[in-house]
Amino acid sequence: MDKVHVIYGSTTGMTEAVAEKIAKALDAQAFNINAGDAAAFDAELLVLGSSTWGVGDLQDDWAAQIDAVKANFAGKKVATFGLGDSVGFADSFCVAAETLATAAKDAGATLVGEVLKLDDTNEADQTDSKIAAWVETLKAAL
Ligand SMILES: Cc1cc2nc3c(=O)[nH]c(=O)nc-3n(C[C@H](O)[C@H](O)[C@H](O)COP(=O)(O)O)c2cc1C
Repeated sequence: MDKVHVIYGSTTGMTEAVAEKIAKALDAQAFNINAGDAAAFDAELLVLGSSTWGVGDLQDDWAAQIDAVKANFAGKKVATFGLGDSVGFADSFCVAAETLATAAKDAGATLVGEVLKLDDTNEADQTDSKIAAWVETLKAAL
């Protein structure tokens, strides 16, 4: 079994770009949840990423898949990250990342790391340093 997989849902590509950065930093493969690839869940640590849409909703592909795939979180380590807009949606900023963490915990996963919340719309200059620091906490949990 692989050590780490990154699994993301992304509507306009922003979460996808971050997922690729996180995967590179962890020497891991990244999977788009919309591909329906069962192999995505075959790793010790699953790093799950979702942007937030509507008002506090999961990204569409995650919303469509979560009930079908959540059993795969049982017994795994799970970390979650999200992208959102902290200015336009201050009250629902990155809620989807919390939703994924709750779904994983409820399904029997062990959560590792803090929930990483990124705002590439208003604070893009902070993204890379936040990713780098967060990835180190995940490595410590492996
Ligand atoms: C209609 C709409 C609703 C959104 N709702 C939220 C929200 O509730 N919370 C949040 O943090 N960001 C919200 N956003 C911002 C997106 O999550 C943000 O643009 C994100 O970077 C998109 O990532 P993606 O391209 O990977 O889907 C919303 C954006 C739009 C256009």
